[in-house]
Amino acid sequence: MTTGHVILDTDHERLVGLIDQLSASIIEGKSKIACAELLDGIIQHAKVHFAFEEQLMVEQCYPKADQHAIEHARLIRQAVRYMVKFNANCPESHIPLIHFPEDWLTFHILTADKELAEFLSAPF
Ligand SMILES: [Fe+2]
Ligand SMILES: [Fe+2]
Repeated sequence: MTTGHVILDTDHERLVGLIDQLSASIIEGKSKIACAELLDGIIQHAKVHFAFEEQLMVEQCYPKADQHAIEHARLIRQAVRYMVKFNANCPESHIPLIHFPEDWLTFHILTADKELAEFLSAPF
């Protein structure tokens, strides 16, 4: 799941690592507080990462910057809604929710971020 941009890929790897940690914690039946903390960490890390990409897009005059930023805002809203749902349910019911964080981010990385990385690496 790489875009070819070293900084973006490193950041995505960190996010995916946190998501894997959350999935493992849910499967292992870790406490709701521990899972909620991990989920909160994912959202906080995503916010920092999205802000970095948005700054980069403005600096590099990326033509799809607005559209990409709107997608980031939508992803954060989805993640917050997911967290509310996650917090409201008992640990056993978390299993059906386990794939959300991965699905949530994968599509964005493989489409919008990949397109951004291609723009950044294109010769002028
Ligand atoms: Fe990204
Ligand atoms: Fe992005």
